[in-house]
Amino acid sequence: EAQVTFYDAVGGERTFTRLVRRFYEGVADDPVLRPLYPEEDLGPAEERLRLFLMQYWGGPRTYSEHRGHPRLRMRHAPFRVGTRERDHWLSHMRAALDELALPEQYDRQLWQYLVYAAHSMVNTAEET
Ligand code: HEM
Repeated sequence: EAQVTFYDAVGGERTFTRLVRRFYEGVADDPVLRPLYPEEDLGPAEERLRLFLMQYWGGPRTYSEHRGHPRLRMRHAPFRVGTRERDHWLSHMRAALDELALPEQYDRQLWQYLVYAAHSMVNTAEET
């Protein structure tokens, strides 16, 4: 019985590569988000997010082979993620998703997840 994953249905690796590349182009020029990233080169961060999302949606397990269990809230603990950072993060994701122009059903499914995940990553109650 063939199982078509969400990963396959939206176009596989190419789609996630485009999504995350466009997202990080936004981060690179964002005065709120850019200072959070410890490395000057955003390439490695781009690759980690790309591999994570591919794995999450049913693609190759490369992320966990390299990084182990995602534990994303813990991994974000060193960074100040307030509502302002979350909203900037989501605005770049929304722009990236718009450029993919996925069929509406897939767009909605991916967006719902990203909104939920971004809300759950907020680690400071302080309004920014
Ligand atoms: C890593 C910021 C939300 C997935 C990071 C890093 C920063 C950051 C500064 C470290 C960069 C690096 O990898 O070296 C933020 C901010 C968010 C946010 C400001 C706003 C809400 C999310 C969400 C997801 C996510 C919603 C998943 C859907 C990841 C992953 C890594 C990462 C997979 C790499 C973890 C690792 O293996 O070390 N993020 N993030 N982030 N973020 Fe986020």
